[in-house]
Amino acid sequence: MGRIDQETVQRILDAADIVDVVSDFVSLKRRGANYIGLCPFHNERTPSFSVSKSKGICKCFSCGKGGSAVNFIMQLEQMSYQEALRYLAKKYNIEIKERELTDKERETASEREALFAVNEFALLHFEHNLLETPEGVNIGLSYFRQRGLSDAMIKRFHLGYSLDKRDELLQEARRKGYRDENLLTTGLVGRTDKGEYYDRFRGRVIYPVFSISGKVVAFGGRVLRKDKPGGKYVNSPESVIYSKSHELYGLYQAKPAIVRKNKCIIVEGYMDVISMHQSGIENVVASSGTSLTEGQIRLLHRFTENVTVIYDSDAAGIKASLRGIDMLLAEGLNVKVLQLPDGDDPDSFAQTHSSSEVEEYLEKHEVDFVKFKMNILLDGVGDDPIKWSKVTSDIVRSIAVIPDDISRNAYIKECCYSLGVDEKVLLNEVNKSRMAIREQEFKRIQQEKTRAMNSGQQQPEQQPAEQPEQPSEAATEYVVSADIRKSTNRSAVLEPFEKQLLRYILKYGMVTICDRESEDGSEDPVSVMDFVEMELAADEIEFTTSAYKKILDMALSLRERYAEDLSAAGERAMEKRTDEWIRGEEAIRLEAITMDDIKLREKKLLEHCDQVYEDYLFDFSVNYVERRLSSSDDSEARDITAELVMEKHQLSKIHTKFAHVETELEQLTQLLPRSIFELKNAILLCDIDDVQEELKHEYSLQSPDKFRLKEIMERLGRMLQLRAEFAKRMGERVVTPGVKGVNRSRK
Ligand code: GTP
Ligand code: MN
Repeated sequence: MGRIDQETVQRILDAADIVDVVSDFVSLKRRGANYIGLCPFHNERTPSFSVSKSKGICKCFSCGKGGSAVNFIMQLEQMSYQEALRYLAKKYNIEIKERELTDKERETASEREALFAVNEFALLHFEHNLLETPEGVNIGLSYFRQRGLSDAMIKRFHLGYSLDKRDELLQEARRKGYRDENLLTTGLVGRTDKGEYYDRFRGRVIYPVFSISGKVVAFGGRVLRKDKPGGKYVNSPESVIYSKSHELYGLYQAKPAIVRKNKCIIVEGYMDVISMHQSGIENVVASSGTSLTEGQIRLLHRFTENVTVIYDSDAAGIKASLRGIDMLLAEGLNVKVLQLPDGDDPDSFAQTHSSSEVEEYLEKHEVDFVKFKMNILLDGVGDDPIKWSKVTSDIVRSIAVIPDDISRNAYIKECCYSLGVDEKVLLNEVNKSRMAIREQEFKRIQQEKTRAMNSGQQQPEQQPAEQPEQPSEAATEYVVSADIRKSTNRSAVLEPFEKQLLRYILKYGMVTICDRESEDGSEDPVSVMDFVEMELAADEIEFTTSAYKKILDMALSLRERYAEDLSAAGERAMEKRTDEWIRGEEAIRLEAITMDDIKLREKKLLEHCDQVYEDYLFDFSVNYVERRLSSSDDSEARDITAELVMEKHQLSKIHTKFAHVETELEQLTQLLPRSIFELKNAILLCDIDDVQEELKHEYSLQSPDKFRLKEIMERLGRMLQLRAEFAKRMGERVVTPGVKGVNRSRK
């Protein structure tokens, strides 16, 4: 492919709106100045993927992937820089003048690019056959018409036809310069044992499968004559551009409707999807016959949390597929199921009912999955206690995988009622099952870590504050320590811990975290910054990452001007308070009738005004550090600040016993000391490593110095003891006693 000239490149980059580009792949919700959604690069249930429209960048705060619009497309679609530009150019209707490919260029084009090109060619060829050749029209098109499909749907899903000739496609492809090997890899062409080539889809109608960005990744070909040998469908084989378990048929076409309705309907077959579309219901995708895979579910979850699975009326397969649906629950989706009337599948139902009838039927008959499952399983159990307990434990397993506490508990209540079981008993069972799941999960993570460590990969950074749901904290720490011991590069080991601490400073530096008694007996407020400074100074700790050290110093020096700025902010807050008061008084004058009413309203107004004042000042102090530093004249400080303060979640998901979700800020009295402590622990482990090295070195000498050996051993002994104490303390939740609550009165 030719190169794009620089001017066009600039036009493309200017046109690309990051929110717009990302939205084609991820359902974004506005969150303050940014947008957030589920990261398309890794499996997650709570959104970590943040998009900043003004900055033109996106970033996942879990896996770190992201960047500009071009970067995003390159990473997500595995495209080259040039390909990504072309993609964006197409999206924004920017013309790129292509020159004819030279043989050389065609040869060197990357494999993916080549495979997509072959598929694109085949797509057009199949469509052409269907609509423009006598055989295609007489056999293929008439088949689709007979199945009740409109021309609009045939066009929309790019349906096609493969002529019933041995190697018509192959010949045409060769003529156009496509290589045999690419035709074989995409499976458009097959090769017999004797080495003869043939068109795989010959004599079949074609359903192309599109990726979510609209590229053709595969084809399904359906036989028309029953006397043909083999299965009803032939599908493209897996290749570097097609992983069956990561695609959903129809998603490309259904995407806008799924986002709009915030719901997705899952059916089985190609025809089901198309007929539903035709009847006006467009938020439909197909699993293509097999049971759902985790990859498909993940793909879906990027667009919606609400899923309805439609079953054919034949009950045979239902029980078998129940397990697959548990995966939907485990992914945190709200799952409903719908059974169609006897003898119908979505295709026939949509073809024989008006769109409003279909809509209505859906609305009326979809039922909650857990209830549905319970009903199916309980059917015919009777009084048999063994069957009964099997059913119970099966349902328990379904409920146990639901990640959200609130919906899980609601289900437990429901099921107690239906099963006639005591709530405590069921709760207990569910919790046991959850423990088992967590243990498995934890083992899996550990294995992965070990594997990664052995292959010398760098560890993803630890973010203790944001993973409150870890199975066992003590055990997690152990993993951290193990990493540290293996590492020789102190700065690399300490970096994530320093980063976390710096993040707290940037986000909450001026917030008062506790009070300290001063000499005259009065209580001085201690800010997050003061606290960190004292703690680090006490152990003579300095950040090893130089950029962090610089930013920390910049942050600390902000305190010099803070009092002054705060008092200016106080004046502004007072103005706001006065405005509110005047406005409120006016309203009272107009609305209040009795004296008592006036008094009551004034009292409320006063409270409101105080709150406005307090909130203003609070926001001012909370945001102070990050505002200053993210607009600092030091570009590194600017970038790192922006990176660290872009929210992962507004709320860290910690549910207290009061069923109230605590914010990170409210948790700070625990998170901050813990974070400091973790840094200290990491440093200690590095120190131990160093001393052990020293010891080894001393031993390796020809004539080791006995006194020196003794000294090193003693030092090591003290450190190991300290490590043991640390390890014990790590297990305790609140590390530093005497830290008072954050001064925060807002609800
Ligand atoms: P129609 O018979 O035209 O209504 O097809 P359908 O698309 O409704 O398919 P059906 O409900 O019979 O099967 C559901 C899906 O399973 C299909 O869309 C295919 O993806 C897949 N499938 C069905 N039969 C076969 C087969 O013989 N081989 C393969 N590989 N896949 C099949
Ligand atoms: Mn069908």
